[in-house]
Amino acid sequence: MNHHFDEVIDRKNPFSVKWGSLEKLFGSEDVLPMWVADMDFENPEPVLAALRKILDNHVLGYMMPPDSLYEAIIHWQKERHQMILAKEDILFSPGVVPSIGLIIQTFTQVNDAVMIHDPVYTPFSNMIELNQRKCISSTLTIQDNQFKMDFADIEKKMVDQQVKLFILCNPQNPGGRVWSKKELTQLAELCKKHGVLMISDEIHGDLVFQPESFTSLVTLDSSYQDFVLTLSAATKTFNLAGIKLSMVFVQNPKLRDQFIQAQNKIEQSALNTFGYVGTEAAFSEGGPWLSDLMQYLSANLELICTFFDKELPQVRYMKPEGTYLFWFDCSTLGMTDAELADHFAKVGKIGLNAGAAYGPAGSNYMRLNFAAPQSLIEEGLKRIKYAFEQPH
Ligand SMILES: Cc1ncc(COP(=O)(O)O)c(C=O)c1O
Repeated sequence: MNHHFDEVIDRKNPFSVKWGSLEKLFGSEDVLPMWVADMDFENPEPVLAALRKILDNHVLGYMMPPDSLYEAIIHWQKERHQMILAKEDILFSPGVVPSIGLIIQTFTQVNDAVMIHDPVYTPFSNMIELNQRKCISSTLTIQDNQFKMDFADIEKKMVDQQVKLFILCNPQNPGGRVWSKKELTQLAELCKKHGVLMISDEIHGDLVFQPESFTSLVTLDSSYQDFVLTLSAATKTFNLAGIKLSMVFVQNPKLRDQFIQAQNKIEQSALNTFGYVGTEAAFSEGGPWLSDLMQYLSANLELICTFFDKELPQVRYMKPEGTYLFWFDCSTLGMTDAELADHFAKVGKIGLNAGAAYGPAGSNYMRLNFAAPQSLIEEGLKRIKYAFEQPH
């Protein structure tokens, strides 16, 4: 391993979302933040070098996405995910969440029903509700400590509520489930049968632990290209959330034209120079860094699971198949969700995401981000154990 994932980087900058507002978010500055999904690791050197080169040009004018960027994305998607893209299928946007918002606005009407899983990444329901659509959720079941979809419930609600759009998270945040080909096919077939458009949010698609393998939804059957918009980015994979660039892959020309028109209405054609350049460098030269990262994350995950098994055997957890997120059940503490969040912050001095924010089925859970140097993970685990040991 050539990269310094063990190095602890001082990220205590007041404008870092993760490290900057500890007092405000968690009640004190000595809380260890292991919440929002960015990593406490340096970016791949080739990405930093490409960004430095922009500054060396001394002029930051408008930039168009170069052909070499399209080629880097096409190559990455083909080699890693067997997704075949043409240049025109690739649209850019300032983020996956902004893309979700714009897709909701473009392809559904006020009061239309939009479906998600429960629990799932919080901005899905936020985008639905802020755009005055009806949020319909289907609760994920848990079998063998992993999330499973309840297809009977999904189909019933799709029909009863006349669902227009399904927003899928694959791999799944917060549970780290990497959906199987069979599950994805079953879900897509339901959407096809009932005329439901789909968003497949695949931002975590590169962060998958062996022997699991990620399947991009549209690669399962060419007919899925007719009704699936795929969202992806280099930002989660390579820890570049601040460069604010993501991709929308739309193979259906009619949907694509409609989406381009919606982007034009808010002038989203020329985006961030750092986003274009960073994304290209990441996909062209970031492969070796990503292999090392996955080894490091896998070792962190083993450390966490061993710790929980030994030190906190009463706590049920989901071992993620992908993502760097660890989802664990705190119901043995016997607290309300508000008390739980407060307890980990004030007593454990650790900043985690409260499960209840991901939907009603997230109640009693907490989410730990383990993309951090091992020394911080060890410290975080000690704090979690301490929190579990303190009486209410
Ligand atoms: C499932 C999922 N989608 C989207 C995002 C964020 O995407 P963006 O920063 O491009 O809006 C995240 C970040 O954690 C995520 O977990």
